[in-house]
Amino acid sequence: MTDTANIKKNQDSTREWLTAKVDKNIEQKIKEDIEGLRNVLRFHEQRYYVQNNPLISDFEYDSLYKLLEKYENEHPSVITKDSPTQRVGAGLIKDFPKRQHLVPMLSLENSYNADDLYDWDRKVRELSGLNEIEYCAEPKFDGASISLMYENDILEQGTTRGDGETGDDITPNIRQIKSVPLSAEFSKYGIQQIEIRGEVLLNKNNFKKYNDKLMEEGLPPLANPRNAAAGSLRIKDTKVVSSRNLEAFLYHVSYINTATNKGMEPVPATHSGMLEMLWQLGFRSPKNEMKIIKGIEGVIQYIHEFEKQRDGLPYEIDGMVIKVNSLELQDRLGMTSHHPRWAIAYKFKARQATSKLLAVEFQVGRTGAVTPVAKIEPALVGGVTVSSISIHNEEYIKEKDLKLNDTILIERSGDVIPQIVKSMPELRNGTETSIHFPKRCPVCHDELYKPEEEAVWRCININCEAQVVERMIHFVSKDAMDIRSFGEANVRKFYALGFIKDIPSIYKLDFDKLKTLEGFGSKSIENLILAIEASKSQPLHRLIYGLGIRYVGETTAKALAQSVQNIFEFINFTEEQLMQLEDVGVKVAKSIFEFFQNKDNVEMLKRLEEIGLSMQAPLLAAGQTGNLQGQSFLFTGTLVKLKRSEAEEKVEIQGGKILGSVSSKLNYLVVGSDAGSKLEKAKKIATIKIITEEEFLKMLPT
Ligand code: IVH
Repeated sequence: MTDTANIKKNQDSTREWLTAKVDKNIEQKIKEDIEGLRNVLRFHEQRYYVQNNPLISDFEYDSLYKLLEKYENEHPSVITKDSPTQRVGAGLIKDFPKRQHLVPMLSLENSYNADDLYDWDRKVRELSGLNEIEYCAEPKFDGASISLMYENDILEQGTTRGDGETGDDITPNIRQIKSVPLSAEFSKYGIQQIEIRGEVLLNKNNFKKYNDKLMEEGLPPLANPRNAAAGSLRIKDTKVVSSRNLEAFLYHVSYINTATNKGMEPVPATHSGMLEMLWQLGFRSPKNEMKIIKGIEGVIQYIHEFEKQRDGLPYEIDGMVIKVNSLELQDRLGMTSHHPRWAIAYKFKARQATSKLLAVEFQVGRTGAVTPVAKIEPALVGGVTVSSISIHNEEYIKEKDLKLNDTILIERSGDVIPQIVKSMPELRNGTETSIHFPKRCPVCHDELYKPEEEAVWRCININCEAQVVERMIHFVSKDAMDIRSFGEANVRKFYALGFIKDIPSIYKLDFDKLKTLEGFGSKSIENLILAIEASKSQPLHRLIYGLGIRYVGETTAKALAQSVQNIFEFINFTEEQLMQLEDVGVKVAKSIFEFFQNKDNVEMLKRLEEIGLSMQAPLLAAGQTGNLQGQSFLFTGTLVKLKRSEAEEKVEIQGGKILGSVSSKLNYLVVGSDAGSKLEKAKKIATIKIITEEEFLKMLPT
């Protein structure tokens, strides 16, 4: 530090100590300083979790958080209930006591088409005596509803909807949701007590990650993010709740008690004003998603516009909610015994459908797991015809109470594979029969085996034809070695003809023999040769994933690839060492350990190395951070030099993130030819850098 800078710094703090603080006792000064730091953290939490627009890096936030933790540890007497460090409670929750809502939590009347809305609007106009109504239209969030109560600016209670009159007190879990402020300055408006309603949800990205993890562990995935959110709120370990990364939108103020409002900010008189107030106080309200519209015509138009964006949103919505904007008019309209007259829900096309469970087939996977697959009466769900659905395992069949010939409710939520939500026992007519699990492998007929602690029956004959074929299908698949034009059908065909027998034999395929097959012209053979050749230099994590080691999904494969220089190093890893790696628990470590201790597997890897496959780690060595660390990317349009998947992989290898949609969280939009709406949207957000493929390539290490 230069002399002048040093003098200035000391002068500043001298003045600070001399002026306001000199007569205060030291405790008071510390208290104020710590509260100042808390406010800084609260500000950044809000920028990150509510506005999706952070101003500092995660690392910087963590350093400030640690500093606060340190100060609070040194001065425990100044810790406050609403400190950012006090979200995670101590220990396990014993139970969730029942609490009465200040105002009942009613549901909304539903509408499904424009006519329903015209009818509703007519009623509202008749009852109010007005010609035209000012409405507010906003998304209908598909999550679990909650009610929050703040008293004297502090979050005192968070409850589930329950039966509408009373709900469960889940306050410790609500405190884990980072977009819910632990305190908010309602006193600025003279508000002493306020009850706010909203929806807790799990965004699509976090839901997918959560389901991937369940499936990697051999557990059935959840049908939709709504169930995942509702389930997460009932977990009794706040640390687990915190790890789910729940989010909350607050969209309704149900009760306000003002002490005095003289000389204070006026409490808003409209619904949109309330959303604005909540936003200003640090809540995530749908302020940016809602629109104020005069007349129902415009509302209908906005609903259609919004529905088009549905798939591109980071969270699930199942419709829109239309509300009368004036709170005074809301009051006058009042409610029926079921729902308010001043609001209506407009439901989008359902992604659920009913069907019949006709038969169950048992499929043997690459790890020998025998999975029951339900053949169902074809049903149209969210635009796709579904005729078979995995029903995972015996336990799942019991839990969902599934029987042959049952009527079932199925759901296809976003890009999640279709799931059975439930059976409908009330519709049974006596023709339903139980589903029996086979005792022997349906392919090799060996006896099946099920360890007590597991849910899955397994064929343990590793030479079982089904497993051998499934291992090869997995190896060539898009997310693994991505051998284009090979695919499931060719693996089955070539295996049946004796052209391939295991993974290494894929690389020894006799192309002359292929020429004799129908449908294999010189062009398609040429493509196949190129694809097989190209796969030899796939990055290590794809090879690891492609090996089909039990419990090793893409995320774990990436973590494994980053921890070695060469795949053969894993032979010397102990289970304990494996458990040090990110995402690797006891079960996963055991499975990886066993894979690399098996001589046949090591032998196979050696053969693949001889054939010329890359066994080396990617660009980064263990512990190093990449060029793109902390940066987020999205690709749009057609790229010339790289395939989309390759470009995304390069970002991830360099420590960057791929985002699913354009938002203020995005750092770079890489634009290829024929870019569409993403580019238009990104242009409106000043912080997003819009770059070409060439510019992107320059950001990568050479
Ligand atoms: S307003 C008294 N606004 O939909 C009216 N509800 O089917 C309070 N929901 O129980 C509700 N998004 O859980 C409102 N923007 C939104 C909503 C919303 C989702 C849920 C809410 C409600 C259910 C009614």
